[in-house]
Amino acid sequence: MKIAISGKGGVGKSTLAAAISLILAERGTKVIAVDADPDANLAQALGISEADQSSIIPIARRAALIEERTGAKVSQYGQMFKINPRVSDIADSYAFNHRGVSLLVLGAIERGGGGCACAESILLKALVTDLVLFKGETLVMDMEAGVEHLGRATAKGVDEMVVVVEPGQRSMESARRIIRMSAEIGLPDPVFVINKAKGFGDEDFAVKGLAAAAEAEGRSRPVVLGVIPYSDEIMGSDRDGTAVIDSVGPEIRALFEEITSRIAERKAVKG
Ligand SMILES: Nc1ncnc2c1ncn2[C@@H]1O[C@H](COP(=O)(O)OP(=O)(O)O)[C@@H](O)[C@H]1O
Ligand SMILES: [Mg+2]
Repeated sequence: MKIAISGKGGVGKSTLAAAISLILAERGTKVIAVDADPDANLAQALGISEADQSSIIPIARRAALIEERTGAKVSQYGQMFKINPRVSDIADSYAFNHRGVSLLVLGAIERGGGGCACAESILLKALVTDLVLFKGETLVMDMEAGVEHLGRATAKGVDEMVVVVEPGQRSMESARRIIRMSAEIGLPDPVFVINKAKGFGDEDFAVKGLAAAAEAEGRSRPVVLGVIPYSDEIMGSDRDGTAVIDSVGPEIRALFEEITSRIAERKAVKG
């Protein structure tokens, strides 16, 4: 099962990705969690200690690995690349293991300074393709507000594109853009989690906003997997650096459990 999670910055993608990953791991599933957001914070959301977080080197910053596999120097133009760099061992060799979850941090591709990040891009793209299309493990991919790293070929392997939204215009606009980009590369219709809802007014706003966005893009009526309230416990887990599922009471934990189960059930139905 391959799950991609997208949405505007700060909506709660990493919170949800961490909760789903840890719940699946508790249920005995082997999970590879990929932090594909340049603004990476999945390690934190998983409750990995600060000391361990600082020991994690993002793949995009492993120059020696990138040069060895692509045959090209990082940050240079006009070179020859190996079109299919070997990447199948990277998850095993470079993931950080935490409570049954193997975390891979891709890292930001730095395009500043006029250099070309071609070698880095090629390696990351090949790695994501390998994880989505050829690895048997369940994949939970924490992405940015788009479909970066996913191309037409990879999109076929994604079972569920989950977009996290919060009740607000900017988040709705972002959701609409993700709906459009998903369709363009052939991803399945996104499904949605409404986060940080303060009461029914917020939920109603988000449901109507998503319906309007899907209609405007000519997509089918959006499926909402769950609604998570604004919660001081969730906020507190960020402050304290603990895993979200350890910090919340049974009601909110049940919401994350249900969202996880619905994704798994949908996969079972779709086959
Ligand atoms: N339901 C919620 N209630 C309150 N705070 C939340 C909720 N969901 C997420 N947050 C907080 O919002 C912030 C951003 O969440 P995060 O998961 O890091 O977002 P993203 O990965 O989309 O940028 C964090 O401080 C997180 O603890
Ligand atoms: Mg994040």
